[in-house]
Amino acid sequence: MTTASSTSPLRIGVVGYGHLGQFLVERILSEGPEVGLELAFVWNRNADKLKGEVPPQLILQDLSSFAQRGCDVIVEVCHPHIVQEFGERFLSKSHFLVGSPSALSEPKLNQQLRRAAQQGGRTLYVPSGALWGGQDIQRLSDSGALKALFIRMSKHPSCFRLTNDVLSDWSEAEGRRVLFRGSVAELCPLAPNNVNTMAAAAVAAGALGFAGVQGEIVSDTELSDYHVVEVEVTGPDGFTVHTVRRNPAKLGAVTGAATYKSFWNSLLVCKGHGGRVYLC
Ligand SMILES: NC(=O)c1ccc[n+]([C@@H]2O[C@H](COP(=O)([O-])OP(=O)(O)OC[C@H]3O[C@@H](n4cnc5c(N)ncnc54)[C@H](O)[C@@H]3O)[C@@H](O)[C@H]2O)c1
Repeated sequence: MTTASSTSPLRIGVVGYGHLGQFLVERILSEGPEVGLELAFVWNRNADKLKGEVPPQLILQDLSSFAQRGCDVIVEVCHPHIVQEFGERFLSKSHFLVGSPSALSEPKLNQQLRRAAQQGGRTLYVPSGALWGGQDIQRLSDSGALKALFIRMSKHPSCFRLTNDVLSDWSEAEGRRVLFRGSVAELCPLAPNNVNTMAAAAVAAGALGFAGVQGEIVSDTELSDYHVVEVEVTGPDGFTVHTVRRNPAKLGAVTGAATYKSFWNSLLVCKGHGGRVYLC
């Protein structure tokens, strides 16, 4: 890893070139110099997609050779499988911003990455995404006062990418339908692309963990312009907080527009916070 002084930019490796990856690469290339970031590489499983889009010297052909690019931060924005396969290796060389935190619902991988962060003194960053109040939830959890946490994510049916066909028969007039309700540990494998915000909440609520945080996924044909994220926090002696976030999103968009900006802001935080998991 290169050591960034106050004057040298942080070198960022971007793993994945879908919606989020393209957004981040474009911003690093255009605004990076102003905010102290420099693109070190971009990897995509289909490298052809990068041709003509990314300067050739920044295209990484083989992800296993990522260490040669001397990154300060590696950003995963492709799939939980890549977190599973490379997360520990990334953390052995760099800070790691895990864009698919639903991967952390798997207890063995979660432990493995926490250990790698601790041992290497590097930070495993979890972006708060569309979660509102994550730092407050974390503080409550750290002080032992968090009693329960519930998150409901409601979207238009065209915005879901589910691993089963529960939504294959939706019709425009059907209104609201609860698709799943259960612990975030149970929901992550069912809708890995739709529950990253819940996964971030489960990381914030470390005392409850993925098995202790409850979630609900709702399809609602009325939601043609935005996604809704509701968070219900329960503390001691009747303490409660209920937030409702409306996240503007086009039909078919898995990710709300504000979440892209949130992700960029998360990246700007990744300057090294020691060997631990850090919600950003
Ligand atoms: N943390 C958050 O708030 C948040 C928000 C949006 C998306 N995400 C997650 O970030 C990731 C990227 O999101 P996106 O909107 O850019 O998705 P996308 O579908 O637009 O892009 C995903 C990219 O990864 C590649 N890919 C898919 N599966 C792969 C695999 N098994 N191995 C290697 N590459 C693979 C695809 O070819 C594509 O280039 C997803 O896992 C998504 O769930 C997280």
